[in-house]
Amino acid sequence: MNLSHRAWVSATLVTGLVGAAQAGPLVWVSMGEDAYQLLRAAGARMEQVEQRTVPIRVPGPKAGTTLGSETIHLLRVDEDALPRLSHEVHEKLNRCGGYIAHASREEGRRTIARFISPPKQALAPPNYVIDNAAQVNALLPLLQESQVRSTITKLSTEYKNRYYTTTGGVTASDGLVNTWKQLAAGRTDVTVKPYKHPAWPQRSVILTIKGTTKPKEIVVIGGHMDSTIGFTSENSIAPGADDDASGVASLQEVARVLLTSGYQPRRTLQFIAYAAEEVGLRGSAAIAADYKAQGKKVVGALQLDMTNYQGGVSDVTMITDYTNAAQNNFVKSLAAFYLPTLTVNDSACGYACSDHASWTNNGFVASFPFEAPMGQHSPYIHTAQDTLDKSGNTANHAIKFSRLALAYAVELGSDGPAPASPRP
Ligand code: BES
Ligand code: ZN
Repeated sequence: MNLSHRAWVSATLVTGLVGAAQAGPLVWVSMGEDAYQLLRAAGARMEQVEQRTVPIRVPGPKAGTTLGSETIHLLRVDEDALPRLSHEVHEKLNRCGGYIAHASREEGRRTIARFISPPKQALAPPNYVIDNAAQVNALLPLLQESQVRSTITKLSTEYKNRYYTTTGGVTASDGLVNTWKQLAAGRTDVTVKPYKHPAWPQRSVILTIKGTTKPKEIVVIGGHMDSTIGFTSENSIAPGADDDASGVASLQEVARVLLTSGYQPRRTLQFIAYAAEEVGLRGSAAIAADYKAQGKKVVGALQLDMTNYQGGVSDVTMITDYTNAAQNNFVKSLAAFYLPTLTVNDSACGYACSDHASWTNNGFVASFPFEAPMGQHSPYIHTAQDTLDKSGNTANHAIKFSRLALAYAVELGSDGPAPASPRP
Protein backbone atom coordinates (compact mmCIF):
# COMPACT_ATOMS: atom_id res chain seq x y z
CA MET A 1 0.00 0.00 0.00
CA ASN A 2 1.28 3.44 -0.85
CA LEU A 3 1.62 5.31 2.40
CA SER A 4 4.55 7.44 1.36
CA HIS A 5 4.49 10.96 2.64
CA ARG A 6 5.16 12.17 -0.91
CA ALA A 7 1.83 10.82 -2.20
CA TRP A 8 0.09 13.06 0.25
CA VAL A 9 2.23 16.18 0.09
CA SER A 10 1.84 16.45 -3.68
CA ALA A 11 -1.91 16.42 -3.22
CA THR A 12 -2.03 18.70 -0.19
CA LEU A 13 -3.93 21.94 -0.15
CA VAL A 14 -3.84 23.84 3.11
CA THR A 15 -6.79 26.16 3.38
CA GLY A 16 -6.09 27.24 6.94
CA LEU A 17 -8.99 28.66 8.84
CA VAL A 18 -12.30 28.88 7.05
CA GLY A 19 -14.97 30.72 8.99
CA ALA A 20 -15.24 30.75 12.76
CA ALA A 21 -18.91 30.12 13.36
CA GLN A 22 -18.30 27.30 15.85
CA ALA A 23 -15.82 26.82 18.63
CA GLY A 24 -15.78 23.09 19.42
CA PRO A 25 -12.64 20.96 19.49
CA LEU A 26 -11.10 20.00 16.15
CA VAL A 27 -11.48 16.37 15.09
CA TRP A 28 -9.93 14.44 12.20
CA VAL A 29 -12.47 13.34 9.60
CA SER A 30 -12.49 12.17 5.99
CA MET A 31 -15.23 12.57 3.40
CA GLY A 32 -15.97 12.66 -0.30
CA GLU A 33 -16.04 15.75 -2.51
CA ASP A 34 -19.80 16.39 -2.23
CA ALA A 35 -19.85 16.35 1.58
CA TYR A 36 -16.67 18.45 1.67
CA GLN A 37 -18.29 21.12 -0.49
CA LEU A 38 -21.25 21.28 1.93
CA LEU A 39 -18.84 21.73 4.82
CA ARG A 40 -17.06 24.56 2.99
CA ALA A 41 -20.35 26.22 2.09
CA ALA A 42 -21.38 26.09 5.77
CA GLY A 43 -18.24 28.03 6.68
CA ALA A 44 -17.08 25.33 9.11
CA ARG A 45 -13.80 25.98 10.87
CA MET A 46 -11.26 23.56 9.37
CA GLU A 47 -7.54 23.01 9.18
CA GLN A 48 -4.89 20.88 7.51
CA VAL A 49 -7.05 19.88 4.55
CA GLU A 50 -5.49 17.37 2.16
CA GLN A 51 -6.93 15.07 -0.45
CA ARG A 52 -6.28 11.87 -2.37
CA THR A 53 -7.86 10.23 -5.36
CA VAL A 54 -9.16 6.74 -4.64
CA PRO A 55 -10.85 4.17 -6.87
CA ILE A 56 -14.62 3.71 -6.57
CA ARG A 57 -15.12 0.00 -6.01
CA VAL A 58 -18.21 -1.97 -6.84
CA PRO A 59 -19.61 -3.63 -3.71
CA GLY A 60 -20.92 -7.16 -3.64
CA PRO A 61 -20.20 -10.05 -5.99
CA LYS A 62 -18.41 -7.84 -8.51
CA ALA A 63 -16.11 -6.43 -5.81
CA GLY A 64 -12.71 -5.72 -7.26
CA THR A 65 -14.00 -3.95 -10.36
CA THR A 66 -13.67 -0.20 -10.18
CA LEU A 67 -15.98 2.51 -11.48
CA GLY A 68 -13.60 5.43 -12.00
CA SER A 69 -12.28 7.43 -9.07
CA GLU A 70 -13.27 10.00 -6.49
CA THR A 71 -11.55 12.52 -4.26
CA ILE A 72 -11.43 11.92 -0.51
CA HIS A 73 -10.60 14.85 1.77
CA LEU A 74 -8.86 14.41 5.10
CA LEU A 75 -9.05 17.36 7.45
CA ARG A 76 -9.50 18.62 10.96
CA VAL A 77 -12.87 20.22 11.48
CA ASP A 78 -14.77 21.81 14.31
CA GLU A 79 -16.67 18.97 16.02
CA ASP A 80 -19.73 21.24 16.35
CA ALA A 81 -20.02 21.43 12.55
CA LEU A 82 -20.55 17.67 12.15
CA PRO A 83 -24.24 17.32 13.14
CA ARG A 84 -25.11 20.00 10.58
CA LEU A 85 -23.04 18.19 7.96
CA SER A 86 -24.91 14.90 8.60
CA HIS A 87 -28.17 16.80 8.36
CA GLU A 88 -27.23 18.47 5.07
CA VAL A 89 -25.88 15.27 3.55
CA HIS A 90 -29.26 13.76 4.32
CA GLU A 91 -31.28 16.72 3.00
CA LYS A 92 -29.23 17.74 -0.02
CA LEU A 93 -27.49 14.56 -1.11
CA ASN A 94 -30.31 12.20 -0.12
CA ARG A 95 -28.13 9.78 1.74
CA CYS A 96 -26.88 9.17 5.26
CA GLY A 97 -23.36 9.30 6.57
CA GLY A 98 -21.05 11.77 4.99
CA TYR A 99 -17.88 11.37 6.98
CA ILE A 100 -15.71 9.02 9.05
CA ALA A 101 -13.91 10.27 12.15
CA HIS A 102 -10.25 9.37 12.74
CA ALA A 103 -8.15 9.26 15.88
CA SER A 104 -5.24 11.05 14.16
CA ARG A 105 -3.98 12.22 10.78
CA GLU A 106 -1.95 9.02 10.41
CA GLU A 107 -4.94 6.81 11.16
CA GLY A 108 -6.99 8.78 8.61
CA ARG A 109 -4.30 8.39 5.97
CA ARG A 110 -4.03 4.66 6.64
CA THR A 111 -7.79 4.22 6.35
CA ILE A 112 -7.87 6.08 3.03
CA ALA A 113 -4.85 4.15 1.77
CA ARG A 114 -6.84 0.95 2.32
CA PHE A 115 -9.32 2.12 -0.32
CA ILE A 116 -6.42 2.13 -2.76
CA SER A 117 -4.97 -1.24 -1.76
CA PRO A 118 -7.32 -3.19 0.51
CA PRO A 119 -5.54 -5.23 3.20
CA LYS A 120 -5.08 -8.95 2.74
CA GLN A 121 -6.81 -10.93 5.48
CA ALA A 122 -4.24 -11.50 8.20
CA LEU A 123 -5.85 -14.73 9.46
CA ALA A 124 -6.56 -17.88 7.48
CA PRO A 125 -10.32 -18.08 6.99
CA PRO A 126 -12.11 -20.34 9.51
CA ASN A 127 -14.02 -23.45 8.52
CA TYR A 128 -17.47 -22.31 7.52
CA VAL A 129 -19.24 -25.62 8.15
CA ILE A 130 -22.55 -26.31 9.84
CA ASP A 131 -21.86 -29.09 12.32
CA ASN A 132 -23.63 -28.13 15.57
CA ALA A 133 -27.25 -28.65 14.60
CA ALA A 134 -28.21 -30.50 17.79
CA GLN A 135 -26.85 -27.70 19.97
CA VAL A 136 -28.22 -24.84 17.90
CA ASN A 137 -31.64 -26.44 17.55
CA ALA A 138 -31.80 -27.01 21.30
CA LEU A 139 -30.98 -23.37 22.03
CA LEU A 140 -33.10 -21.58 19.41
CA PRO A 141 -36.46 -22.16 21.19
CA LEU A 142 -35.06 -20.53 24.34
CA LEU A 143 -34.86 -17.13 22.62
CA GLN A 144 -37.83 -14.99 23.64
CA GLU A 145 -39.41 -12.13 21.73
CA SER A 146 -40.67 -10.67 25.03
CA GLN A 147 -37.10 -10.37 26.31
CA VAL A 148 -35.95 -8.52 23.18
CA ARG A 149 -39.04 -6.29 23.37
CA SER A 150 -38.45 -5.37 27.00
CA THR A 151 -34.80 -4.50 26.33
CA ILE A 152 -35.79 -2.22 23.44
CA THR A 153 -38.43 -0.60 25.65
CA LYS A 154 -35.96 -0.07 28.47
CA LEU A 155 -33.21 1.40 26.29
CA SER A 156 -35.58 3.66 24.34
CA THR A 157 -37.64 4.99 27.25
CA GLU A 158 -35.41 5.15 30.35
CA TYR A 159 -33.11 7.83 28.96
CA LYS A 160 -33.90 11.00 27.01
CA ASN A 161 -31.18 10.02 24.62
CA ARG A 162 -28.07 7.81 24.52
CA TYR A 163 -25.77 10.31 22.80
CA TYR A 164 -22.07 9.74 23.43
CA THR A 165 -21.53 12.89 25.50
CA THR A 166 -24.77 13.24 27.48
CA THR A 167 -25.86 12.06 30.92
CA GLY A 168 -28.36 9.72 29.21
CA GLY A 169 -25.62 8.23 27.05
CA VAL A 170 -23.35 7.61 30.03
CA THR A 171 -26.15 6.27 32.24
CA ALA A 172 -27.32 3.90 29.49
CA SER A 173 -23.77 2.54 29.21
CA ASP A 174 -23.54 2.01 32.98
CA GLY A 175 -26.97 0.36 32.88
CA LEU A 176 -25.80 -2.13 30.26
CA VAL A 177 -22.78 -3.04 32.38
CA ASN A 178 -25.12 -3.83 35.29
CA THR A 179 -27.64 -5.78 33.22
CA TRP A 180 -24.93 -7.82 31.52
CA LYS A 181 -23.24 -8.52 34.87
CA GLN A 182 -26.51 -9.95 36.12
CA LEU A 183 -26.72 -12.19 33.05
CA ALA A 184 -23.20 -13.43 33.76
CA ALA A 185 -23.81 -14.13 37.45
CA GLY A 186 -22.51 -17.51 38.52
CA ARG A 187 -20.23 -18.03 35.53
CA THR A 188 -16.51 -17.79 36.25
CA ASP A 189 -15.67 -18.01 32.53
CA VAL A 190 -17.52 -14.75 31.79
CA THR A 191 -16.46 -11.12 32.28
CA VAL A 192 -18.35 -7.87 31.68
CA LYS A 193 -16.18 -4.79 31.27
CA PRO A 194 -16.71 -1.18 30.35
CA TYR A 195 -14.22 -0.13 27.64
CA LYS A 196 -12.99 3.41 28.28
CA HIS A 197 -12.63 5.94 25.47
CA PRO A 198 -10.35 8.79 26.55
CA ALA A 199 -11.96 11.40 24.27
CA TRP A 200 -15.57 11.14 25.49
CA PRO A 201 -17.50 9.90 28.55
CA GLN A 202 -19.68 7.08 27.13
CA ARG A 203 -17.99 3.68 27.44
CA SER A 204 -18.39 0.70 25.16
CA VAL A 205 -19.37 -2.50 27.00
CA ILE A 206 -17.84 -5.93 26.36
CA LEU A 207 -19.18 -9.27 27.63
CA THR A 208 -16.66 -12.07 27.13
CA ILE A 209 -17.31 -15.82 27.32
CA LYS A 210 -13.88 -17.37 27.40
CA GLY A 211 -13.28 -20.15 24.88
CA THR A 212 -12.44 -23.57 26.33
CA THR A 213 -9.80 -24.79 23.86
CA LYS A 214 -9.12 -21.83 21.54
CA PRO A 215 -9.50 -18.84 23.87
CA LYS A 216 -7.27 -16.63 21.72
CA GLU A 217 -9.62 -16.85 18.76
CA ILE A 218 -12.44 -14.33 19.16
CA VAL A 219 -15.90 -14.16 17.61
CA VAL A 220 -17.53 -10.73 17.97
CA ILE A 221 -21.23 -9.88 17.91
CA GLY A 222 -21.88 -6.15 18.18
CA GLY A 223 -24.35 -3.30 17.99
CA HIS A 224 -24.20 0.34 19.03
CA MET A 225 -25.66 1.71 22.25
CA ASP A 226 -25.69 5.38 21.28
CA SER A 227 -28.58 7.26 19.69
CA THR A 228 -28.83 10.60 17.91
CA ILE A 229 -31.18 13.12 16.34
CA GLY A 230 -28.35 15.02 14.65
CA PHE A 231 -28.07 18.15 16.80
CA THR A 232 -28.21 16.16 20.02
CA SER A 233 -27.69 17.72 23.44
CA GLU A 234 -28.39 16.89 27.07
CA ASN A 235 -32.20 17.14 26.85
CA SER A 236 -32.77 16.01 23.26
CA ILE A 237 -35.31 13.23 22.78
CA ALA A 238 -33.53 10.51 20.79
CA PRO A 239 -35.15 7.16 21.68
CA GLY A 240 -33.28 5.20 19.01
CA ALA A 241 -35.60 2.22 19.44
CA ASP A 242 -34.69 0.82 16.05
CA ASP A 243 -31.32 2.59 15.72
CA ASP A 244 -29.93 0.80 17.59
CA ALA A 245 -31.69 -0.36 20.76
CA SER A 246 -33.01 -3.18 18.53
CA GLY A 247 -29.56 -4.51 17.61
CA VAL A 248 -28.31 -4.35 21.20
CA ALA A 249 -31.51 -6.08 22.38
CA SER A 250 -31.17 -8.80 19.71
CA LEU A 251 -27.61 -9.61 20.75
CA GLN A 252 -28.26 -9.33 24.50
CA GLU A 253 -30.92 -12.04 24.12
CA VAL A 254 -28.35 -14.34 22.49
CA ALA A 255 -25.98 -13.71 25.40
CA ARG A 256 -28.77 -14.40 27.91
CA VAL A 257 -29.62 -17.76 26.35
CA LEU A 258 -25.99 -18.88 25.93
CA LEU A 259 -25.20 -17.92 29.53
CA THR A 260 -28.26 -19.39 31.23
CA SER A 261 -28.05 -22.63 29.23
CA GLY A 262 -24.44 -23.20 30.27
CA TYR A 263 -23.14 -23.23 26.68
CA GLN A 264 -19.34 -23.18 26.55
CA PRO A 265 -17.73 -22.10 23.28
CA ARG A 266 -14.32 -23.40 22.17
CA ARG A 267 -13.49 -20.00 20.77
CA THR A 268 -13.94 -16.86 22.87
CA LEU A 269 -17.23 -15.07 22.25
CA GLN A 270 -17.50 -11.32 22.75
CA PHE A 271 -20.73 -9.35 22.82
CA ILE A 272 -20.02 -5.66 22.34
CA ALA A 273 -22.25 -2.60 22.73
CA TYR A 274 -20.24 0.13 21.00
CA ALA A 275 -20.21 3.74 22.16
CA ALA A 276 -20.18 6.69 19.75
CA GLU A 277 -21.18 5.00 16.49
CA GLU A 278 -23.39 7.87 15.39
CA VAL A 279 -20.49 10.30 15.36
CA GLY A 280 -18.25 8.48 12.89
CA LEU A 281 -18.00 4.87 14.15
CA ARG A 282 -15.64 6.14 16.84
CA GLY A 283 -16.16 3.51 19.56
CA SER A 284 -15.80 0.52 17.24
CA ALA A 285 -12.90 2.14 15.37
CA ALA A 286 -11.01 2.48 18.67
CA ILE A 287 -11.71 -1.12 19.67
CA ALA A 288 -10.91 -2.67 16.28
CA ALA A 289 -7.67 -0.66 16.03
CA ASP A 290 -6.76 -1.67 19.59
CA TYR A 291 -7.40 -5.37 18.87
CA LYS A 292 -5.35 -5.15 15.70
CA ALA A 293 -2.48 -3.41 17.54
CA GLN A 294 -2.55 -6.15 20.20
CA GLY A 295 -2.56 -8.86 17.52
CA LYS A 296 -5.89 -10.24 18.74
CA LYS A 297 -7.30 -12.90 16.46
CA VAL A 298 -10.82 -11.84 15.63
CA VAL A 299 -12.10 -14.73 13.53
CA GLY A 300 -15.26 -12.90 12.55
CA ALA A 301 -17.51 -10.01 13.53
CA LEU A 302 -21.27 -9.75 13.12
CA GLN A 303 -22.93 -6.32 13.31
CA LEU A 304 -26.54 -5.86 14.39
CA ASP A 305 -27.67 -2.29 13.70
CA MET A 306 -31.42 -1.82 13.06
CA THR A 307 -33.17 -5.18 13.35
CA ASN A 308 -36.80 -4.41 14.19
CA TYR A 309 -38.46 -2.59 11.26
CA GLN A 310 -39.62 -4.87 8.49
CA GLY A 311 -39.99 -2.31 5.72
CA GLY A 312 -39.77 -4.75 2.83
CA VAL A 313 -40.86 -8.27 1.99
CA SER A 314 -37.53 -9.87 2.85
CA ASP A 315 -36.59 -10.75 6.42
CA VAL A 316 -32.83 -10.34 6.36
CA THR A 317 -30.80 -8.11 4.05
CA MET A 318 -27.10 -8.85 3.86
CA ILE A 319 -25.09 -5.66 3.42
CA THR A 320 -22.51 -6.30 0.71
CA ASP A 321 -20.13 -3.37 1.16
CA TYR A 322 -17.43 -3.17 3.85
CA THR A 323 -18.22 -6.82 4.60
CA ASN A 324 -16.60 -10.18 3.78
CA ALA A 325 -18.22 -12.20 1.00
CA ALA A 326 -17.17 -15.62 2.36
CA GLN A 327 -18.56 -14.92 5.81
CA ASN A 328 -21.70 -13.37 4.29
CA ASN A 329 -22.27 -16.63 2.43
CA PHE A 330 -21.79 -18.54 5.68
CA VAL A 331 -24.40 -16.35 7.41
CA LYS A 332 -26.78 -16.96 4.49
CA SER A 333 -26.18 -20.71 4.74
CA LEU A 334 -26.98 -20.55 8.48
CA ALA A 335 -30.26 -18.81 7.67
CA ALA A 336 -31.11 -21.37 4.97
CA PHE A 337 -30.32 -24.31 7.27
CA TYR A 338 -31.71 -23.18 10.62
CA LEU A 339 -34.32 -20.60 9.64
CA PRO A 340 -35.61 -21.85 6.29
CA THR A 341 -38.77 -19.73 6.40
CA LEU A 342 -36.76 -16.50 6.30
CA THR A 343 -36.21 -14.69 3.01
CA VAL A 344 -32.71 -13.29 2.62
CA ASN A 345 -31.40 -10.85 0.02
CA ASP A 346 -28.51 -8.47 -0.64
CA SER A 347 -28.23 -4.69 -0.53
CA ALA A 348 -25.46 -2.12 -0.16
CA CYS A 349 -25.16 0.94 2.10
CA GLY A 350 -22.86 2.74 -0.31
CA TYR A 351 -20.61 4.01 2.48
CA ALA A 352 -19.15 2.93 5.83
CA CYS A 353 -22.59 3.04 7.45
CA SER A 354 -22.02 1.11 10.69
CA ASP A 355 -19.49 -0.57 12.99
CA HIS A 356 -18.84 -3.57 10.70
CA ALA A 357 -16.76 -1.10 8.62
CA SER A 358 -14.41 -0.54 11.58
CA TRP A 359 -13.57 -4.25 11.66
CA THR A 360 -13.20 -4.38 7.88
CA ASN A 361 -10.98 -1.29 7.91
CA ASN A 362 -8.67 -3.00 10.39
CA GLY A 363 -8.30 -6.13 8.27
CA PHE A 364 -10.90 -8.33 10.01
CA VAL A 365 -13.82 -10.28 8.57
CA ALA A 366 -17.24 -8.70 9.17
CA SER A 367 -20.89 -9.17 8.16
CA PHE A 368 -23.94 -6.98 8.59
CA PRO A 369 -27.40 -8.57 8.39
CA PHE A 370 -29.88 -5.68 8.21
CA GLU A 371 -33.64 -5.18 8.73
CA ALA A 372 -34.65 -4.30 5.16
CA PRO A 373 -33.34 -3.53 1.69
CA MET A 374 -31.70 -0.09 1.62
CA GLY A 375 -34.40 2.56 1.33
CA GLN A 376 -37.08 0.33 2.87
CA HIS A 377 -35.59 0.51 6.36
CA SER A 378 -37.15 2.58 9.16
CA PRO A 379 -37.78 6.17 8.01
CA TYR A 380 -37.89 7.32 11.66
CA ILE A 381 -34.22 6.85 12.60
CA HIS A 382 -32.35 9.88 13.93
CA THR A 383 -35.66 11.48 15.00
CA ALA A 384 -37.70 11.63 18.22
CA GLN A 385 -40.15 9.28 16.44
CA ASP A 386 -37.81 6.28 16.44
CA THR A 387 -39.98 4.43 18.96
CA LEU A 388 -41.16 0.83 19.38
CA ASP A 389 -44.73 1.57 18.21
CA LYS A 390 -43.31 2.06 14.69
CA SER A 391 -42.61 -1.68 14.79
CA GLY A 392 -46.11 -2.53 16.07
CA ASN A 393 -44.91 -2.63 19.70
CA THR A 394 -43.33 -6.04 19.18
CA ALA A 395 -39.86 -7.42 18.61
CA ASN A 396 -41.10 -9.96 16.08
CA HIS A 397 -38.56 -8.81 13.49
CA ALA A 398 -35.63 -8.32 15.89
CA ILE A 399 -35.97 -11.87 17.27
CA LYS A 400 -35.12 -13.26 13.80
CA PHE A 401 -31.75 -11.56 14.11
CA SER A 402 -31.27 -13.09 17.57
CA ARG A 403 -31.85 -16.52 16.00
CA LEU A 404 -29.41 -15.85 13.19
CA ALA A 405 -26.80 -14.45 15.61
CA LEU A 406 -27.20 -17.43 17.95
CA ALA A 407 -26.57 -19.85 15.07
CA TYR A 408 -23.52 -17.77 14.10
CA ALA A 409 -22.21 -17.66 17.69
CA VAL A 410 -22.53 -21.41 18.23
CA GLU A 411 -21.37 -22.59 14.80
CA LEU A 412 -18.35 -20.27 14.67
CA GLY A 413 -17.81 -20.32 18.44
CA SER A 414 -17.73 -24.13 18.56
CA ASP A 415 -15.28 -24.57 15.67
CA GLY A 416 -16.22 -28.16 14.99
CA PRO A 417 -18.93 -30.58 16.08
CA ALA A 418 -20.15 -30.79 19.65
CA PRO A 419 -18.81 -33.72 21.73
CA ALA A 420 -20.89 -36.92 21.54
CA SER A 421 -22.29 -36.55 25.04
CA PRO A 422 -23.40 -33.10 26.15
CA ARG A 423 -21.09 -31.31 28.52
CA PRO A 424 -22.54 -30.75 32.01
N1 BES B 1 -27.94 2.61 11.71
C1 BES B 1 -27.28 3.61 10.95
C2 BES B 1 -26.77 3.12 9.62
C3 BES B 1 -27.80 2.85 8.56
C4 BES B 1 -28.80 3.76 8.30
C5 BES B 1 -27.69 1.71 7.81
C6 BES B 1 -29.72 3.49 7.30
C7 BES B 1 -28.56 1.45 6.81
C8 BES B 1 -29.60 2.35 6.57
C9 BES B 1 -26.12 4.16 11.73
O1 BES B 1 -26.36 4.26 13.09
C10 BES B 1 -25.81 5.53 11.22
O2 BES B 1 -26.61 6.40 11.31
N2 BES B 1 -24.62 5.69 10.65
C11 BES B 1 -24.22 6.96 10.13
C12 BES B 1 -22.84 6.88 9.57
C13 BES B 1 -21.75 7.03 10.61
C14 BES B 1 -20.41 6.91 9.94
C15 BES B 1 -21.86 8.36 11.34
C16 BES B 1 -25.15 7.36 8.99
O3 BES B 1 -25.58 6.48 8.24
O4 BES B 1 -25.39 8.56 8.86
ZN1 ZN C 1 -27.38 2.75 13.86
